[in-house]
Amino acid sequence: MKVFVEEQGIPHHLEVDEFDDQAAHFIVQDGNQTIAAARLREISPGIGKIERVCVLNEYRGKRLGILIMEHVEKYAAEHRFNTLKLNAQVYAISFYEKLGYKVTSPEFLDAHIPHRAMEKAIK
Ligand SMILES: CC(C)(COP(=O)(O)OP(=O)(O)OC[C@H]1O[C@@H](n2cnc3c(N)ncnc32)[C@H](O)[C@@H]1OP(=O)(O)O)[C@@H](O)C(=O)NCCC(=O)NCCS
Repeated sequence: MKVFVEEQGIPHHLEVDEFDDQAAHFIVQDGNQTIAAARLREISPGIGKIERVCVLNEYRGKRLGILIMEHVEKYAAEHRFNTLKLNAQVYAISFYEKLGYKVTSPEFLDAHIPHRAMEKAIK
């Protein structure tokens, strides 16, 4: 809510959807405060989609984004996913490229924000 709704202005009804109940959720906490989050859901057998990757503004640049993505990937590998997909906000593409994700689509708009699809094969 703090990152996508308050900071980026994405409508609340687009952030909270029917997939929250079935997704695996990942958070990083500093004391009682949640400072980073992501979710993963299976969209077809062996294929996972990573969504809602975010780090609170004041905690960015401390490798928490990498940390939470590594945990998502570890969980995905343990649960026999073979491919991970995500829709990256265009400004964040190089963040995901550093983790080995490759762009697989032209640019498109989601919630008025430019995105490109990316994916990575995992073991
Ligand atoms: C994208 C986001 C999750 C990155 O989290 P972070 O904790 O700041 O990133 P890290 O500190 O783990 O950065 C890891 C590497 O990616 C790079 N990186 C991080 N954000 C980047 C960006 N926006 N553009 C280019 N490179 C970026 C860092 O420089 C670092 O590179 P290095 O390994 O060469 O030093 C964070 O900026 C965020 O929450 N943004 C708002 C929400 C959002 O838009 N999420 C993406 C939705 S698709």
